[in-house]
Amino acid sequence: MADDQHWTTAITEIKPNEVRLRGYRIDELMARVSFADAIFLALMGELPAPGVSRLLDAMLVASIDHGATPPSALAARTAASTGAPLNAAVAAGVLSINRHHGGAIEDCMGVINEAYALAEANDLSLEVAAAGLVALYRKDKKRMAGFGHRVHTADPRTARLFALAEEAGVAGRGMAMLRALEAALAADTGRRLPINVDGAIAAVLFDLGVPPALANAFFIMARVPGLVAHVHEEQTRERPMRRIHPSDHVYDGPAARELPDGR
Ligand SMILES: CC(C)(COP(=O)(O)OP(=O)(O)OC[C@H]1O[C@@H](n2cnc3c(N)ncnc32)[C@H](O)[C@@H]1OP(=O)(O)O)[C@@H](O)C(=O)NCCC(=O)NCCS
Repeated sequence: MADDQHWTTAITEIKPNEVRLRGYRIDELMARVSFADAIFLALMGELPAPGVSRLLDAMLVASIDHGATPPSALAARTAASTGAPLNAAVAAGVLSINRHHGGAIEDCMGVINEAYALAEANDLSLEVAAAGLVALYRKDKKRMAGFGHRVHTADPRTARLFALAEEAGVAGRGMAMLRALEAALAADTGRRLPINVDGAIAAVLFDLGVPPALANAFFIMARVPGLVAHVHEEQTRERPMRRIHPSDHVYDGPAARELPDGR
Protein backbone atom coordinates (compact mmCIF):
# COMPACT_ATOMS: atom_id res chain seq x y z
CA MET A 1 0.00 0.00 0.00
CA ALA A 2 1.41 3.38 -0.98
CA ASP A 3 2.26 5.66 1.88
CA ASP A 4 0.48 9.04 1.43
CA GLN A 5 3.64 10.84 2.44
CA HIS A 6 5.64 9.55 -0.50
CA TRP A 7 5.31 9.81 -4.27
CA THR A 8 4.75 6.54 -6.04
CA THR A 9 6.24 4.66 -8.98
CA ALA A 10 4.90 1.43 -10.45
CA ILE A 11 7.90 0.46 -12.60
CA THR A 12 10.58 -1.20 -10.49
CA GLU A 13 10.67 -2.21 -6.84
CA ILE A 14 14.06 -2.21 -5.20
CA LYS A 15 14.80 -3.93 -1.89
CA PRO A 16 18.13 -5.12 -0.53
CA ASN A 17 19.25 -8.00 -2.77
CA GLU A 18 16.01 -7.92 -4.80
CA VAL A 19 15.04 -6.05 -7.96
CA ARG A 20 11.56 -6.51 -9.44
CA LEU A 21 10.46 -5.03 -12.79
CA ARG A 22 6.66 -4.69 -12.83
CA GLY A 23 6.61 -7.38 -10.13
CA TYR A 24 8.92 -9.90 -11.83
CA ARG A 25 12.35 -10.62 -10.33
CA ILE A 26 14.97 -9.20 -12.67
CA ASP A 27 17.24 -12.22 -12.15
CA GLU A 28 14.38 -14.49 -13.30
CA LEU A 29 13.65 -12.34 -16.33
CA MET A 30 17.33 -12.46 -17.31
CA ALA A 31 17.92 -15.01 -20.07
CA ARG A 32 14.23 -16.01 -19.96
CA VAL A 33 12.77 -13.05 -21.80
CA SER A 34 14.25 -11.12 -24.73
CA PHE A 35 15.35 -7.51 -24.43
CA ALA A 36 12.32 -6.56 -26.57
CA ASP A 37 10.02 -8.34 -24.08
CA ALA A 38 11.65 -6.47 -21.20
CA ILE A 39 11.14 -3.16 -23.03
CA PHE A 40 7.46 -4.00 -23.54
CA LEU A 41 7.16 -4.97 -19.86
CA ALA A 42 8.80 -1.74 -18.68
CA LEU A 43 6.63 0.44 -20.94
CA MET A 44 3.29 -1.39 -20.91
CA GLY A 45 3.39 -3.05 -17.48
CA GLU A 46 2.84 -6.60 -18.80
CA LEU A 47 4.88 -9.12 -20.77
CA PRO A 48 3.77 -9.45 -24.41
CA ALA A 49 1.88 -12.59 -25.46
CA PRO A 50 4.38 -15.36 -26.37
CA GLY A 51 3.82 -15.07 -30.14
CA VAL A 52 4.36 -11.32 -30.03
CA SER A 53 7.94 -11.53 -28.73
CA ARG A 54 9.40 -12.32 -32.13
CA LEU A 55 7.45 -9.50 -33.73
CA LEU A 56 8.67 -6.92 -31.20
CA ASP A 57 12.21 -8.10 -31.61
CA ALA A 58 11.92 -7.85 -35.40
CA MET A 59 10.54 -4.32 -35.06
CA LEU A 60 13.64 -3.25 -33.14
CA VAL A 61 16.00 -5.06 -35.53
CA ALA A 62 14.26 -3.38 -38.50
CA SER A 63 15.18 0.09 -37.27
CA ILE A 64 18.69 -0.52 -35.93
CA ASP A 65 20.48 1.41 -38.69
CA HIS A 66 19.92 2.83 -42.15
CA GLY A 67 23.38 3.90 -43.24
CA ALA A 68 25.17 7.23 -42.91
CA THR A 69 22.64 9.50 -44.67
CA PRO A 70 19.76 9.70 -42.15
CA PRO A 71 19.76 13.04 -40.31
CA SER A 72 20.29 11.34 -36.94
CA ALA A 73 23.45 9.56 -38.14
CA LEU A 74 24.78 12.79 -39.67
CA ALA A 75 24.00 14.74 -36.48
CA ALA A 76 25.71 12.11 -34.31
CA ARG A 77 28.77 12.00 -36.59
CA THR A 78 28.95 15.80 -36.75
CA ALA A 79 28.91 16.03 -32.95
CA ALA A 80 31.49 13.23 -32.69
CA SER A 81 33.76 15.02 -35.17
CA THR A 82 33.86 18.04 -32.86
CA GLY A 83 35.28 15.91 -30.06
CA ALA A 84 31.99 15.28 -28.24
CA PRO A 85 32.10 12.18 -26.03
CA LEU A 86 30.03 9.10 -26.94
CA ASN A 87 27.00 10.02 -24.83
CA ALA A 88 26.82 13.59 -26.17
CA ALA A 89 27.25 12.52 -29.81
CA VAL A 90 24.61 9.79 -29.49
CA ALA A 91 22.30 12.30 -27.79
CA ALA A 92 22.76 14.66 -30.77
CA GLY A 93 21.60 11.82 -33.02
CA VAL A 94 18.61 11.05 -30.80
CA LEU A 95 17.66 14.74 -30.81
CA SER A 96 17.46 14.58 -34.61
CA ILE A 97 14.76 11.91 -34.55
CA ASN A 98 11.58 13.87 -35.08
CA ARG A 99 8.35 13.86 -37.03
CA HIS A 100 9.98 13.72 -40.49
CA HIS A 101 12.62 11.11 -39.57
CA GLY A 102 11.96 8.13 -37.32
CA GLY A 103 9.42 10.02 -35.30
CA ALA A 104 6.52 9.70 -37.70
CA ILE A 105 5.19 6.69 -35.80
CA GLU A 106 3.11 8.68 -33.33
CA ASP A 107 1.73 10.93 -36.10
CA CYS A 108 0.93 7.88 -38.23
CA MET A 109 -1.07 6.34 -35.37
CA GLY A 110 -2.92 9.67 -35.35
CA VAL A 111 -3.62 9.26 -39.07
CA ILE A 112 -5.06 5.77 -38.46
CA ASN A 113 -7.29 7.17 -35.70
CA GLU A 114 -8.37 10.06 -37.93
CA ALA A 115 -9.34 7.65 -40.71
CA TYR A 116 -11.41 5.51 -38.34
CA ALA A 117 -13.05 8.62 -36.87
CA LEU A 118 -14.03 9.66 -40.41
CA ALA A 119 -15.36 6.16 -41.14
CA GLU A 120 -17.40 6.01 -37.95
CA ALA A 121 -18.79 9.54 -38.14
CA ASN A 122 -20.04 9.02 -41.71
CA ASP A 123 -20.67 5.27 -41.66
CA LEU A 124 -18.06 4.70 -44.39
CA SER A 125 -16.20 1.57 -45.43
CA LEU A 126 -12.48 1.43 -44.71
CA GLU A 127 -11.64 2.11 -48.36
CA VAL A 128 -13.99 5.08 -48.72
CA ALA A 129 -12.78 6.61 -45.44
CA ALA A 130 -9.16 6.17 -46.54
CA ALA A 131 -9.86 7.88 -49.88
CA GLY A 132 -11.69 10.68 -48.05
CA LEU A 133 -8.80 11.30 -45.67
CA VAL A 134 -6.25 11.30 -48.52
CA ALA A 135 -8.38 13.91 -50.33
CA LEU A 136 -8.50 16.06 -47.15
CA TYR A 137 -4.72 15.86 -46.77
CA ARG A 138 -4.23 16.82 -50.41
CA LYS A 139 -6.59 19.79 -50.03
CA ASP A 140 -4.60 20.98 -47.00
CA LYS A 141 -1.26 20.19 -48.74
CA LYS A 142 -0.29 17.96 -45.82
CA ARG A 143 1.96 14.91 -46.05
CA MET A 144 0.62 11.74 -44.55
CA ALA A 145 2.91 10.40 -41.83
CA GLY A 146 4.09 6.84 -42.39
CA PHE A 147 4.22 7.04 -46.21
CA GLY A 148 7.02 7.84 -48.66
CA HIS A 149 10.75 7.25 -48.51
CA ARG A 150 13.81 9.01 -49.87
CA VAL A 151 15.35 5.74 -51.09
CA HIS A 152 12.83 2.89 -51.15
CA THR A 153 9.81 2.43 -53.37
CA ALA A 154 8.86 -0.80 -51.53
CA ASP A 155 10.42 -0.83 -48.06
CA PRO A 156 11.62 -4.42 -47.36
CA ARG A 157 11.15 -3.85 -43.63
CA THR A 158 7.44 -3.14 -44.02
CA ALA A 159 6.66 -6.35 -45.91
CA ARG A 160 8.55 -8.48 -43.38
CA LEU A 161 7.04 -6.77 -40.34
CA PHE A 162 3.53 -7.16 -41.72
CA ALA A 163 4.16 -10.84 -42.52
CA LEU A 164 5.41 -11.40 -38.95
CA ALA A 165 2.39 -9.55 -37.53
CA GLU A 166 0.11 -11.83 -39.53
CA GLU A 167 2.00 -14.93 -38.29
CA ALA A 168 1.68 -13.69 -34.70
CA GLY A 169 -2.08 -13.12 -35.14
CA VAL A 170 -1.61 -9.42 -34.39
CA ALA A 171 -2.59 -7.97 -37.78
CA GLY A 172 -5.77 -6.01 -37.19
CA ARG A 173 -7.42 -2.64 -37.70
CA GLY A 174 -4.17 -0.69 -37.80
CA MET A 175 -2.65 -2.69 -40.61
CA ALA A 176 -5.92 -2.86 -42.53
CA MET A 177 -6.33 0.92 -42.46
CA LEU A 178 -2.71 1.59 -43.40
CA ARG A 179 -3.04 -0.69 -46.43
CA ALA A 180 -6.26 1.07 -47.44
CA LEU A 181 -4.51 4.44 -47.11
CA GLU A 182 -1.57 3.21 -49.22
CA ALA A 183 -3.98 2.19 -51.98
CA ALA A 184 -5.88 5.48 -51.68
CA LEU A 185 -2.63 7.51 -51.90
CA ALA A 186 -1.57 5.57 -55.01
CA ALA A 187 -4.96 6.16 -56.65
CA ASP A 188 -4.90 9.84 -55.71
CA THR A 189 -1.32 10.72 -56.63
CA GLY A 190 -0.83 8.27 -59.49
CA ARG A 191 2.45 7.12 -57.93
CA ARG A 192 3.31 4.63 -55.26
CA LEU A 193 4.09 6.18 -51.88
CA PRO A 194 5.17 3.10 -49.92
CA ILE A 195 4.35 2.47 -46.27
CA ASN A 196 7.70 3.30 -44.67
CA VAL A 197 9.14 1.61 -41.59
CA ASP A 198 7.59 4.26 -39.31
CA GLY A 199 4.20 3.54 -40.81
CA ALA A 200 4.66 -0.22 -40.49
CA ILE A 201 5.65 0.13 -36.83
CA ALA A 202 2.70 2.47 -36.24
CA ALA A 203 0.24 -0.08 -37.63
CA VAL A 204 1.70 -2.92 -35.55
CA LEU A 205 1.82 -0.84 -32.35
CA PHE A 206 -1.77 0.28 -33.01
CA ASP A 207 -2.79 -3.38 -33.25
CA LEU A 208 -0.86 -4.19 -30.06
CA GLY A 209 -2.71 -1.45 -28.17
CA VAL A 210 0.41 0.63 -27.49
CA PRO A 211 -0.54 4.27 -26.78
CA PRO A 212 0.64 6.78 -29.45
CA ALA A 213 2.59 8.75 -26.83
CA LEU A 214 4.97 5.76 -26.46
CA ALA A 215 5.21 4.95 -30.16
CA ASN A 216 8.29 6.95 -31.23
CA ALA A 217 10.21 5.44 -28.33
CA PHE A 218 10.34 2.13 -30.19
CA PHE A 219 12.26 3.71 -33.08
CA ILE A 220 14.49 5.77 -30.78
CA MET A 221 15.45 2.73 -28.69
CA ALA A 222 16.05 0.64 -31.79
CA ARG A 223 18.29 3.27 -33.46
CA VAL A 224 20.60 3.92 -30.48
CA PRO A 225 22.93 0.96 -31.24
CA GLY A 226 23.25 2.16 -34.85
CA LEU A 227 24.08 5.67 -33.66
CA VAL A 228 26.69 4.29 -31.25
CA ALA A 229 28.29 2.42 -34.17
CA HIS A 230 28.39 5.61 -36.29
CA VAL A 231 29.88 7.66 -33.45
CA HIS A 232 32.53 5.05 -32.70
CA GLU A 233 33.41 4.73 -36.40
CA GLU A 234 33.66 8.52 -36.71
CA GLN A 235 35.89 8.70 -33.64
CA THR A 236 38.17 5.87 -34.72
CA ARG A 237 38.38 6.30 -38.51
CA GLU A 238 37.96 9.98 -39.31
CA ARG A 239 39.84 13.22 -38.76
CA PRO A 240 38.40 15.72 -36.27
CA MET A 241 36.07 18.37 -37.68
CA ARG A 242 36.17 17.01 -41.22
CA ARG A 243 33.65 18.26 -43.79
CA ILE A 244 30.98 15.56 -43.72
CA HIS A 245 29.21 15.28 -47.05
CA PRO A 246 25.61 14.14 -46.43
CA SER A 247 25.59 11.48 -49.14
CA ASP A 248 28.94 11.21 -50.95
CA HIS A 249 30.38 8.16 -49.22
CA VAL A 250 30.97 4.52 -50.08
CA TYR A 251 30.33 1.38 -48.05
CA ASP A 252 33.49 -0.66 -47.35
CA GLY A 253 32.10 -3.21 -44.86
CA PRO A 254 31.60 -6.94 -45.40
CA ALA A 255 30.27 -8.01 -48.79
CA ALA A 256 26.68 -9.30 -48.90
CA ARG A 257 26.51 -12.63 -47.03
CA GLU A 258 23.98 -15.18 -45.80
CA LEU A 259 23.17 -15.90 -42.17
CA PRO A 260 24.82 -19.14 -41.01
CA ASP A 261 22.58 -22.22 -40.74
CA GLY A 262 20.65 -22.35 -37.52
CA ARG A 263 20.38 -18.56 -37.05
C1 LIG B 1 10.03 10.56 -45.98
C2 LIG B 1 9.90 11.78 -46.86
C3 LIG B 1 10.50 13.01 -46.17
C4 LIG B 1 10.65 11.46 -48.15
O1 LIG B 1 10.54 12.51 -48.95
P1 LIG B 1 11.04 12.48 -50.47
O2 LIG B 1 11.29 11.15 -51.01
O3 LIG B 1 12.13 13.43 -50.49
O4 LIG B 1 9.77 12.88 -51.14
P2 LIG B 1 9.65 14.16 -52.01
O5 LIG B 1 9.75 15.34 -51.12
O6 LIG B 1 10.57 14.05 -53.17
O7 LIG B 1 8.17 13.99 -52.45
C5 LIG B 1 7.80 13.48 -53.66
C6 LIG B 1 6.35 13.82 -53.85
O8 LIG B 1 5.54 12.95 -53.10
C7 LIG B 1 4.78 13.67 -52.15
N1 LIG B 1 4.85 12.97 -50.89
C8 LIG B 1 5.94 12.42 -50.34
N2 LIG B 1 5.62 11.86 -49.17
C9 LIG B 1 4.31 12.08 -49.00
C10 LIG B 1 3.40 11.74 -47.99
N3 LIG B 1 3.81 11.07 -46.92
N4 LIG B 1 2.12 12.11 -48.12
C11 LIG B 1 1.71 12.78 -49.20
N5 LIG B 1 2.51 13.13 -50.22
C12 LIG B 1 3.81 12.79 -50.10
C13 LIG B 1 5.46 15.03 -52.04
O9 LIG B 1 4.56 16.02 -51.67
C14 LIG B 1 6.02 15.23 -53.40
O10 LIG B 1 5.03 15.72 -54.24
P3 LIG B 1 5.38 16.93 -55.23
O11 LIG B 1 6.52 16.43 -56.09
O12 LIG B 1 4.11 17.15 -55.94
O13 LIG B 1 5.80 18.04 -54.32
C15 LIG B 1 8.41 12.06 -47.20
O14 LIG B 1 7.89 10.97 -47.89
C16 LIG B 1 7.58 12.39 -45.98
O15 LIG B 1 7.56 13.55 -45.55
N6 LIG B 1 6.87 11.37 -45.41
C17 LIG B 1 6.03 11.59 -44.26
C18 LIG B 1 6.86 11.57 -42.99
C19 LIG B 1 7.38 10.18 -42.67
O16 LIG B 1 6.67 9.19 -42.75
N7 LIG B 1 8.65 10.13 -42.27
C20 LIG B 1 9.30 8.87 -41.90
C21 LIG B 1 10.32 8.47 -42.94
S1 LIG B 1 10.98 6.87 -42.62
